[in-house]
Amino acid sequence: MNSKILVTGATGNVGSEVVCLLHDRGYQIKAAVRDLKNIDDTLTPQVEYVIFDFQQQNTFSPALQGVSKLFLVRPPAIAQVKRYINPAIDAAIAAGVQHIVFLSLLGTEYNPIVPHAKIESYIKSVGISYTFLRASFFMQNLSTMHQEDIKHQEIFVPAGKGKTSFIDVRDIASVAVKALTEPGYNNQSYALTGDEALDYYQVADMFTRVLGKTVVYTNPSIFQFFTRMYKQGFSLQFIAVMIAIYTTARLGFAARITADLEQILHRKPIRMQQFIADYRECW
Ligand SMILES: NC(=O)c1ccc[n+]([C@@H]2O[C@H](COP(=O)([O-])OP(=O)(O)OC[C@H]3O[C@@H](n4cnc5c(N)ncnc54)[C@H](OP(=O)(O)O)[C@@H]3O)[C@@H](O)[C@H]2O)c1
Repeated sequence: MNSKILVTGATGNVGSEVVCLLHDRGYQIKAAVRDLKNIDDTLTPQVEYVIFDFQQQNTFSPALQGVSKLFLVRPPAIAQVKRYINPAIDAAIAAGVQHIVFLSLLGTEYNPIVPHAKIESYIKSVGISYTFLRASFFMQNLSTMHQEDIKHQEIFVPAGKGKTSFIDVRDIASVAVKALTEPGYNNQSYALTGDEALDYYQVADMFTRVLGKTVVYTNPSIFQFFTRMYKQGFSLQFIAVMIAIYTTARLGFAARITADLEQILHRKPIRMQQFIADYRECW
């Protein structure tokens, strides 16, 4: 009988935390990676790592063998849902998967053009049990994407004075683990946010206080942001996505706060100050 949980995006922000939590709690898991060489010291050892690539359909069936539940992460670079994600969902159902927990995006229900909306819609259309985790902007973007800028005492994003209800990926992973292992989450969607909405001036002040060195939010224009990112070699597609994300914040659409996370975890979400303290070595 199928009993394992397949975690996609196992090297990524949320997936790696989900692997870690499930493993600690003794669940049988398969951690999906594109290449076994991507497993480094930061990831949980003693886990069954399997090859899985949305762009290589021949990897689906072996990875899904013995799997009853799927944690589904859409890789940020994959926008062609019909071509790359839907076949993986079909393969999961064919392999006997009974429940999909999908890492989605806050506000997806109002934004049918984002890939996450198309994935949600496809999952609903095929009739499999699901949990959609519609997450707000990750705090960990500051320790990954913006790590170098912050090391150089700057936050460089074109978000104006807009506020964001940042969430820590460790909280998303905690909710994901509940949805993957406990009853009561079937066919539910949750809007997962932090419990404070901050602008980047406030975030820079928190970095300054916690790290004990000045970090400044330079509030670049979209043109300044584009120019620097382009010179740094990022693709036009990637820069466009970043600009769209930070424009959403600039316009005030990223500030929504919900109580879903607290209701599920019975505790407050991790706050920005705590995140900076926990990850201080990054900067
Ligand atoms: N970042 C945010 O603030 C935020 C907020 C809400 C929702 N989201 C959504 O969360 C999802 C994850 O975003 P993220 O930024 O946190 O990325 P991430 O999960 O840290 O990184 C992407 C993951 O996907 C894997 N991957 C890449 N290409 C793949 C492929 N062809 N087949 C299988 N796996 C592949 C990568 O593995 P490798 O090691 O093989 O590269 C990596 O584990 C995205 O759908 C994003 O839109 C993000």
